[in-house]
Amino acid sequence: MTETANGKKLWAIGGGKGGIGKSIFTLGLGISLARLGKRVVLMDADLGGANLHTLMGVRYPTHTLEDFLLKRVENLEEVVLDTQIAGIGLICGADDILGAANPTYSQKIRVLNQIESLPADFVLLDLGAGTSFNTLDFFNYSAGKIAVFTSQATSLQNVYGFLKNSLFRRISREFAKDDDVLWLLHQTGSKAPEVKIESISELLSHLQRKKPDQYQVLRQILKDYQVLVVVNMVKTDRDFQAAQIIQNVSNRFLDLSPQVLGYMHYDQAIEQAVNQLVPFPMNVQKSRAADELRDIAQTIIDKYAPTAALQEPAYQQEEDETAARSSWSSLWRRAPA
Ligand SMILES: Nc1ncnc2c1ncn2[C@@H]1O[C@H](COP(=O)(O)OP(=O)(O)OP(=O)(O)O)[C@@H](O)[C@H]1O
Ligand SMILES: [Mg+2]
Repeated sequence: MTETANGKKLWAIGGGKGGIGKSIFTLGLGISLARLGKRVVLMDADLGGANLHTLMGVRYPTHTLEDFLLKRVENLEEVVLDTQIAGIGLICGADDILGAANPTYSQKIRVLNQIESLPADFVLLDLGAGTSFNTLDFFNYSAGKIAVFTSQATSLQNVYGFLKNSLFRRISREFAKDDDVLWLLHQTGSKAPEVKIESISELLSHLQRKKPDQYQVLRQILKDYQVLVVVNMVKTDRDFQAAQIIQNVSNRFLDLSPQVLGYMHYDQAIEQAVNQLVPFPMNVQKSRAADELRDIAQTIIDKYAPTAALQEPAYQQEEDETAARSSWSSLWRRAPA
């Protein structure tokens, strides 16, 4: 697995904490991108806690990622399920059996390599909670990195931990054979450091003085490590400040400058959709969160993925029969090789 993202179509949605809306956001973003004419595959990368299919109203997936991981099928394409939404395919998460929830390094490479050849404009990875290496690796490999969180203190704490762990994993892998840098990196998290290095900025300064080559490499990693943030479940204006808080601490301690991708208000239509097993925002004509998701999708297309072009619209806003027939499998067949 190369450590620098090469897959322009791969976007990961993480955030550290459970229950803050990662899956809801992934699904809503996917639907919004499809409505804007993009071909989308949603992949449940919450290995062991997969539930994206449930949010899409799929009760019994015929195939899951496990079939691919355990080589029951040769191509990742074979586990992409049709969904009720034109232009959206779904890769269901693996069950926590036979070790599929904990894929080996080579299994992960097999998944990531094949993702790039899926005929889709966007592949959105719904990551699980926590900071397992699987989650961090998927996040780090993705060209688009979105961190979702709420204004709750615990969510802020977890998302910061998630970003920190992801970045540290990225740096550790780059310097896997450089014990000196690994040791210095370890000092930043140590309670009793032997050298006082409390942040990535201080590590940079240290390397600049002592190890100019490594300094350049680390600088480049930080430059390439672009994270977009989304605050979910906004209820009052104060909640907007959550983005600023994460920007400030990321900047101060990690030398990262996350950009705000957008905000999503708390919306009862989302809870209703979950209870009715109808994917949000398919259950509403108009809703604030749906509008916000559409704006976020448009921002991604215009600003962050302007090259993701589609030959023909995958989705008609009016869900007429033609659009309903324009299912994932038909898009699949006519997609360019
Ligand atoms: N903007 C919102 N407005 C109202 N309810 C929301 C919103 N976002 C999420 N929810 C509610 O929060 C619940 C949890 O969301 P979701 O399943 O997406 O969390 P998650 O971060 O993926 O959790 P996990 O890590 O456990 O998979 C949803 O079932 C939904 O009811
Ligand atoms: Mg989830």
